Amino acid sequence: MNYKEAYEKLEKYGQLHVLNDYNGLTEEKKAALLVQIESLDFSILQYCKENTTNQKGEISPLAAMQLPEIEKKKEKYTEIGLEEIRQGRVAAVLLAGGMGTRLGSDHPKGMYDIGLTRPVYIFQRIIENMLDVVRQAGEWVRLFIMTSDKNHDMTMEFFEEKKYFGYNRDYVSFFIQDVVPASDYEGKVYMEEAWKISTSPNGNGGWFSSMNKCGLLDVVKKEGIEWINVFAVDNVLQRIADPCFIGAVIDHGCVAGAKVVKKNSPDERVGALCLEDGRPSIVEYYELTDEMKAAKDADGNPAYDFGVILNYIFRTKELEEIMDRQLPLHVVEKQIPYRNEKGERVDPEVPNGYKYETLVLDMIHQVDNCLAYEVDRNKEFAPIKNATGIDSVETARELCKKNGIVL
Ligand code: UTP
Repeated sequence: MNYKEAYEKLEKYGQLHVLNDYNGLTEEKKAALLVQIESLDFSILQYCKENTTNQKGEISPLAAMQLPEIEKKKEKYTEIGLEEIRQGRVAAVLLAGGMGTRLGSDHPKGMYDIGLTRPVYIFQRIIENMLDVVRQAGEWVRLFIMTSDKNHDMTMEFFEEKKYFGYNRDYVSFFIQDVVPASDYEGKVYMEEAWKISTSPNGNGGWFSSMNKCGLLDVVKKEGIEWINVFAVDNVLQRIADPCFIGAVIDHGCVAGAKVVKKNSPDERVGALCLEDGRPSIVEYYELTDEMKAAKDADGNPAYDFGVILNYIFRTKELEEIMDRQLPLHVVEKQIPYRNEKGERVDPEVPNGYKYETLVLDMIHQVDNCLAYEVDRNKEFAPIKNATGIDSVETARELCKKNGIVL
């Protein structure tokens, strides 16, 4: 992109201030800025004043496939799933681009050590869980790991250093998630340097389009991968590429599936899988009305009782179809370091603008159907969100111990 094209693009989105210091830059920095202007999507900035996530349709319950029913058909589903894995039609995507700010660590969250008598890293737990399936199927499962520009090198170096925790490195690919500009409250982008626009990772909803941008969709197609299990980094007990889950989704003729847990209270902070205008959708815990919390299903049980745990399976075909659709933008207030008019760097102590994210949970509403598949929360749900208290290192350690994992 040359200067004129960059000027026109910025003018269109009201961002001409980006070029304020252009003339004083070295040739190298001018080029870097033009490349960045070309690559960034400024159209999202128009949403700085209207959070596009607030417009929900009509919500109704979606029944989950529950543990007793799964237990009855476990063998059948497992065989179906194992066969898909053996044919190389299943891959997993680990979402590890988040910053894990709540743990107070500067490292990728997966590098966090939850061990007590030996090191047990979050990444290690995930790989160990995957290795169980690899052993069961007698076949490797391809693993794509999404990082962000902020933690990519550290993540890759860590896997190298730990020799992929015994996983076959030929089956592991890393890719960096896309970034979007960060802005002030008026939707004007901040400058990190005179030659660099402030950016932040685009949220976990951009994982498939980021994979595509990095050329990995070609790998998916070449290898005939038909199902992708996408999951969060922070649940140290979750089963990945779980044959029974895959088999249940296929047997039900569904194009997607979501692992869900029975909520431990109506106020538990997990989104509930439901229908929105007849299509699958997720209502966040803070969107549940009192009426919805009190609603009962045909058996008299709470109707919105199953929460998602960020472990979904999608058919690749549908992912390709929905890839270019704009998901709702979650506009989040944030502290954004920037360069002021005097050229000084400012590190604000309070939020001074917005970052723009899309979320994987919003992809569920884009597909025609989704199987809600219950897992036993004591065996498969040990999220690490905080250092102490609810969903913390402490609670995850307790659950690991109960499941016979030596820490
Ligand atoms: P969270 O929503 O818990 O965010 O991510 P986070 O950034 O990890 O943690 P906090 O809130 O800053 O403490 C859910 C999952 O989505 C991934 C995370 O790595 C985690 O697996 N994620 C999140 C991304 O991959 N990219 C993002 O931009 C955001």
